[in-house]
Amino acid sequence: MPDIIDTHCHLTMSHYDPDRSDVIKRCLDSGVSRLITIGTDIDDSRMAIELAEKHDFIFAGIGIHPHDVKDIKNPEETYELLKSLASSKRVVAIGETGLDYHYMHSPKDIQQEHFRMHIEVARTLDLPLLIHSREAKEDTLNILSDTLTSGMRGVFHCFSGDMEMAEKALEMGFYISFSGVVTFKNANKILEIVRAVPLNRILVETDAPFLSPTPHRGKRNEPAYVRFVAEKVAEIKDLSIEETCKNIMTNAAELFKII
Ligand code: NI
Repeated sequence: MPDIIDTHCHLTMSHYDPDRSDVIKRCLDSGVSRLITIGTDIDDSRMAIELAEKHDFIFAGIGIHPHDVKDIKNPEETYELLKSLASSKRVVAIGETGLDYHYMHSPKDIQQEHFRMHIEVARTLDLPLLIHSREAKEDTLNILSDTLTSGMRGVFHCFSGDMEMAEKALEMGFYISFSGVVTFKNANKILEIVRAVPLNRILVETDAPFLSPTPHRGKRNEPAYVRFVAEKVAEIKDLSIEETCKNIMTNAAELFKII
């Protein structure tokens, strides 16, 4: 398997407590030569950075997940902490942040407020934004178009929107990241989007421990399985796996400044 990056996983989660070092070893054995582990609150972001400091090939994204923003007691303090954590050289992105109206674990207005705060941090620090958007197309695009200045960059992680949303995201200069969902049996809609997104804007991810691709669907996911996503992209784009992975690595290097 050629070198590939998992641009979005959650290796700090307790799902990996029993065997995290084995999971990390399997990444390297299967060609995952880079990965970005994403913190979902301040403590988890700290753990993501610690993990990235221990392994050369691991990098961290830090932020407060839209599910969890309702728990932010003192926003000023939280964002100061986030900014100071982001000074670590291992931090390559801010997020995941955005809007989730599917689960609605935090109220809409609170999610929107904190999405804007994350955008501000990313802009101040000149880091790419990891955008989570679920059933929140209009508000996500509005907030991004309100607040974006030229030069802002980022990725729609685990893309689940429609063609119009993909087109708007591309127009705004964002990358689009696909997860194991593209390997599912009923994936026709998302495969149309894989087909439409230019190769120089595609990223892949696992979102592990969630969303295991076929043939591991329903079990715990892990970064090594990102190859199933890359293989599906190669098939849809009618390219070799080598060429597909090479393009994805180049895209990730450009967006995250990972060499
Ligand atoms: Ni995630």
